[in-house]
Amino acid sequence: MYTWNELDNFIRSCSRCPLCHSRLQAVTGRGNRQAKLMFVAEAPGANEDKAGIPFVGPAGKVFDRLLADSGLTWDDIYMTNILKCHPPGNRDPLPAEKEQCLPYLRYETVLIHPKIIVCLGRVAAQQIISADFRITRQHGTWTDRMGYSMTAVYHPSALLRDPAKMEETRRDFRHIAERLKQIT
Ligand code: URA
Repeated sequence: MYTWNELDNFIRSCSRCPLCHSRLQAVTGRGNRQAKLMFVAEAPGANEDKAGIPFVGPAGKVFDRLLADSGLTWDDIYMTNILKCHPPGNRDPLPAEKEQCLPYLRYETVLIHPKIIVCLGRVAAQQIISADFRITRQHGTWTDRMGYSMTAVYHPSALLRDPAKMEETRRDFRHIAERLKQIT
């Protein structure tokens, strides 16, 4: 197993897939490494590519509001992405990119040892919960596996495109906060 320092260095210097040529920098996780609640999103956007920190752009502002609305803070959570590098034009991660990058997420998960894993959006949910996960129908549902309670919510970028999804996402976030209270 690796230490956080080793893992950070592996990610920052990674050249396992061609995204290393187009990225400005690889983006490691953000938040409390002691947290029991881990969020997994898709991939850094252009703002995150510049800042080197997840969720600093417009989607991050939406996420911050949802978090605050549910009574949680960044101190309660750890946030990371399926891909650590920005895919040009925000296209979906390619299967080969995910395959090369997923070991980092596995190491992060072992180091964090979360009780709850929340997938932000379809890409994370299909990777982590099930390949046929339908975010529209199944967001807010829970799956217990390998000692983790897992759920998925709409990606904050989807809420920017379709604000009508906001209210049900607020509800999902409140349930996540309640679940966290129950288990800690
Ligand atoms: N969208 C993501 O999926 N991840 C980020 O870090 C930022 C935006």
